[in-house]
Amino acid sequence: MKEIRLDSIDSTNTYAKEHSVEFAKDSITCVSADEQTAGRGRFQRNWVSPKGVNIYATFYFTLPKRALHLISLSQIMAMSLATLLQQKGLKPEIKWPNDIRLSDKKLAGILSEMQFSKTTVECFLGIGINVNLEKSLLEKIDQPATSLKVETGKKWDKNQLLKELQVQFEKDLIRFKLDGFTPFHDEFEALLAMKGKQVHCFDGEKTWVGICHSITEEGQLNLLLEDGTIHTVLSGDIKT
Ligand code: BTN
Repeated sequence: MKEIRLDSIDSTNTYAKEHSVEFAKDSITCVSADEQTAGRGRFQRNWVSPKGVNIYATFYFTLPKRALHLISLSQIMAMSLATLLQQKGLKPEIKWPNDIRLSDKKLAGILSEMQFSKTTVECFLGIGINVNLEKSLLEKIDQPATSLKVETGKKWDKNQLLKELQVQFEKDLIRFKLDGFTPFHDEFEALLAMKGKQVHCFDGEKTWVGICHSITEEGQLNLLLEDGTIHTVLSGDIKT
């Protein structure tokens, strides 16, 4: 894995998109920063990115255009982090499609962006993890959020954690390239937050109300609607 470490940048995703012509096409490049001045979240939200306390990183790599279920790629990154946290004795949950939660609060989020050329897809998987963010700053976030420090009561080495995430994600991506989402399905579903609960799911156009039922073989969300039918959502955002 190639590494680019930046001190301060608007957004590691934006930087990676602007510089991807310079990046190797046969390996992963990880762009990380100590602070972001305009960190971006999904649905045009901003991502709180103060200096020195958290992980802000974008993983860049290319895949053949015919590749598999690209839509579930960001869920693989969520699984990589969840696997790592479980190895450390924590009990993460994944709020579909790719928020990592601890104690029902958001710990990490993933922003997946892609650029399509004739034969390949350039993937930019950005992950923000609240590592040592203090309670006072967490309270300023517009949804219930937590950090590893708040959850465990100790300071974490964010560089070491990023290194471990790089190793885990590299392994998981090899598996995903070979077999798609299928090898991750059962564990993903086992970690699914709000399973069996009624949720509101905004798919970019419409809000669906239903029970958070299950995950398809490709990583999409099955909602059980009031009329007893299953509605499958490809991408979206869920709330209780
Ligand atoms: C979300 O949950 O809305 C996604 C948050 C993604 C934040 C990360 S931080 C590193 C990368 N650069 C960005 O500007 N955003 C992602």
